[in-house]
Amino acid sequence: MSSTDFLRAKSEGRKLSMVTCYDYTFARLLLKSAIDGILVGDSAAMVMHGHPTTLSADTGLMRLHTEAVARGAAGKFIVADMPFLSFRKGPAAALDAASVLMVAGAHAVKLEGVDGHEDVIQRMVQSGIPVMGHVGLQPQSVHAYGGFRVQGRSTDSARNIARQAAALEELGAFAIVLECVPANLAREISENLRIPTIGIGAGAGCDGQILVLQDLLGMNTDIHPKFARPFLNGARCILETLARFDEAVKGGTFPAGEESYS
Ligand code: KIV
Repeated sequence: MSSTDFLRAKSEGRKLSMVTCYDYTFARLLLKSAIDGILVGDSAAMVMHGHPTTLSADTGLMRLHTEAVARGAAGKFIVADMPFLSFRKGPAAALDAASVLMVAGAHAVKLEGVDGHEDVIQRMVQSGIPVMGHVGLQPQSVHAYGGFRVQGRSTDSARNIARQAAALEELGAFAIVLECVPANLAREISENLRIPTIGIGAGAGCDGQILVLQDLLGMNTDIHPKFARPFLNGARCILETLARFDEAVKGGTFPAGEESYS
């Protein structure tokens, strides 16, 4: 897969699947899967480091996670998130940050919003960096929203999101994440764009879907957004397995003779 394959998939009516990944071990597994693309999301700050928002993910942290994923999943299409404000300090600073992520092994970068950094997106595209947009709920703006809230429910907000999506296509983005917007709005935006939309909490009318890997594996026991279907009860599997290990150690049945060196 590549950014141009994303466009082809849309023109051929093929849905795209993406998941987040932040580490080498899961990247090795994803490499064996049919998943179309991996996002090294700035959600790493929350999922891997326990921060309350994505704002704590800086370029250094994103570089480390991108390198680990790239080592594990060489051959998969990898998108890395541009951290909070890294693309708001002018094109030169943004290109420096993007360069760190691309050299770390990303094949594209994703950045939130469009207003006020059109020049950055244009410069990246002109420099050969495939750009994925992200509109709707932009988690880096969580404090401006007053919380993680569905966007696009009012007519004005819906129009604004559709306008931003069209602007991103115009600026040369190869795909757009639509996060937490009403399903009918996401469908309408998807139908009006040539580039694919990748939805998260945006209904079935998008051209593809993305979930946080730990959410789809049911490993997140704290927060359960309604769109994040757990395809596995990972927390239960892991806890039952840890209980079996604990019992085996304490009951003296682990390690067995064949698990020991003579
Ligand atoms: O960082 C992330 O996990 C994301 C997804 C919500 C698309 O941006």
